[in-house]
Amino acid sequence: MVATSGRPGGNPSMNASAILTTERLILRHWRESDRTPFARLNADLRVMEYMPRLLSAEESDALVARIEAHFRLQGFGLLAAELRRDGRFIGFIGMNVPAFQAPFMPCVEIGWRLAAEHWGQGLATEGATSLLAYAFETLRLDSLVSFTVPANRRSRRVMEKLGMAHDPADDFDHPRLPVGHPLRRHVLYRLNRSAWSSEPRRSFPG
Ligand SMILES: CC(C)(COP(=O)(O)OP(=O)(O)OC[C@H]1O[C@@H](n2cnc3c(N)ncnc32)[C@H](O)[C@@H]1OP(=O)(O)O)[C@@H](O)C(=O)NCCC(=O)NCCS
Repeated sequence: MVATSGRPGGNPSMNASAILTTERLILRHWRESDRTPFARLNADLRVMEYMPRLLSAEESDALVARIEAHFRLQGFGLLAAELRRDGRFIGFIGMNVPAFQAPFMPCVEIGWRLAAEHWGQGLATEGATSLLAYAFETLRLDSLVSFTVPANRRSRRVMEKLGMAHDPADDFDHPRLPVGHPLRRHVLYRLNRSAWSSEPRRSFPG
């Protein structure tokens, strides 16, 4: 993936691995030093409330390896999110091609997972907003989806703030979870390039 800025005038050169910069975030390729803080957030019950289970440190590292393999295959992926003010790794915001079958495949999903101490400051929305511009203008993707369990109001709110639309007819049962599992039902949100292009946008100066 070629390093670029979330908006004209951003300065990716300040961080050689940066893909996107926003007012408060650098979205970049992963580093070895991200593994420990990533494992910590994958073992945090607050962060993983709507995931099937917590991850061990080994499982967290294996997830990083899958994210890096996805980058090599697709040219984009889940980006490490770093605070510009102090260089701290706080989680991921990025894109992923889901590896399961569902009625809305093939698709590219946009997703996020941040350490709980950084919630509620608009960071997920800020990073994802610059990612939408990257996805639609630079990568020229036609559409993006995002999905979660109905109860995950925080994540759904981010989807809504991004201008994504929810049609209950698209809701689905996650095929990786067994029938009867409390997290099996998922809501699906969609955004296509033409709808995104026609929306007024907040700007996050880089
Ligand atoms: C989802 C997540 C990335 C959001 O990060 P964030 O930086 O706090 O998001 P933002 O601040 O940009 O937006 C959060 C919105 O949710 C709202 N919100 C927070 N708690 C809420 C709740 N219980 N009910 C409804 N809305 C809620 C916030 O008020 C905010 O909306 P607002 O700007 O209109 O006030 C973060 O909570 C997280 O990492 N969760 C765990 C992982 C996860 O669930 N990932 C998604 C899996 S699909």
